[in-house]
Amino acid sequence: MRIGDLQTPALLVEAADLEHNLATMSAALPGERLRPHVKAHKCTELARRQADGGHVGFTCATIRECEGMAAAGLGTDVMLANEVLDARRLGALVARNDDVRVTLAVDSEPTIEAAVAGGVRDVVIDVNVGLPRCGCPPEDAGRLADLSRSKGLDVRGVMGYEGHVVGNDDRAFRESATADAMKLLVQAHGDVGGELISAGGTGTYDINTWATEIQAGSYALMDTAYGHLDLPFRQALSVLATVVSVSPGYAVADCGLKALGMDHGNPTILDATVFFCSDEHVTFIPDEGSPVRVGDRIRVLPAHVDPTVAYHERMHIVDVDDVVEAWPVDLRGW
Ligand SMILES: Cc1ncc(COP(=O)(O)O)c(C=O)c1O
Repeated sequence: MRIGDLQTPALLVEAADLEHNLATMSAALPGERLRPHVKAHKCTELARRQADGGHVGFTCATIRECEGMAAAGLGTDVMLANEVLDARRLGALVARNDDVRVTLAVDSEPTIEAAVAGGVRDVVIDVNVGLPRCGCPPEDAGRLADLSRSKGLDVRGVMGYEGHVVGNDDRAFRESATADAMKLLVQAHGDVGGELISAGGTGTYDINTWATEIQAGSYALMDTAYGHLDLPFRQALSVLATVVSVSPGYAVADCGLKALGMDHGNPTILDATVFFCSDEHVTFIPDEGSPVRVGDRIRVLPAHVDPTVAYHERMHIVDVDDVVEAWPVDLRGW
């Protein structure tokens, strides 16, 4: 099949770029140094390639991702790096699969209670290292670890995601802010114990030397927001669209904000300037000398990979214009 035969909008992944990204990361962070985050691709076929590259443990953001990874035989060490107040599906998953291990992030008494009530056995203490999201104050981590152990949970260590740092364009800032964040996490780990200090993302994969494992995800497919950071990863992901209307001064393709994660801004179209996106459309201004016609196919580069992928049922693995394979985006939903 050729990409010209695909219905649009369609998610495309350039096979050579994906291979490059996976190999580059595996060389930098071999084996257990990387716990790939599957939220960035939501695809067990892609996770299998990461496992083939030597990475045994995975990071998940939803219960559904943990279940899907287990069903695909990739659940021997999954971490749900997120808080849940109903952990019964996780407990059931562990109870019915001897070879599945789920480690759940907890950051409060209610989340510890939920882990116990749900039948979860393993937890990490989630520590706030500067991102105003989940995570306990660092000085509270030891108390929460003691509480967890008193209730029979196995505390494997700490996690603390420096999400306020990973996307900053300035490497010097990323270095100093990661050092500050990890000082807090290492201190908390001293109070908690356990073998894991889990942290990091694509923007700090080679900076965060304090963590025992890095939770990077975006590196596999990449997006234009991370593309500004001068990382050694290539933009493998695009959305194929069809030009459906051309007017004086602008053109419109069938790839709108229902096919693109827009929270990091407009997508990019080569040889054109994106004007705006609406539900089903991207309106763009072709560069002089690069006119488009109705029916032309264009590749739209998303600014944020994770929510973009979550809109699509499958990703088409392509070799330039040939569709080599189609992988289901089978970890969608909650
Ligand atoms: C808990 C957690 N860890 C790690 C990451 C790193 O992901 P990325 O590689 O996209 O920076 C994320 C992304 O949002 C995250 O939420």
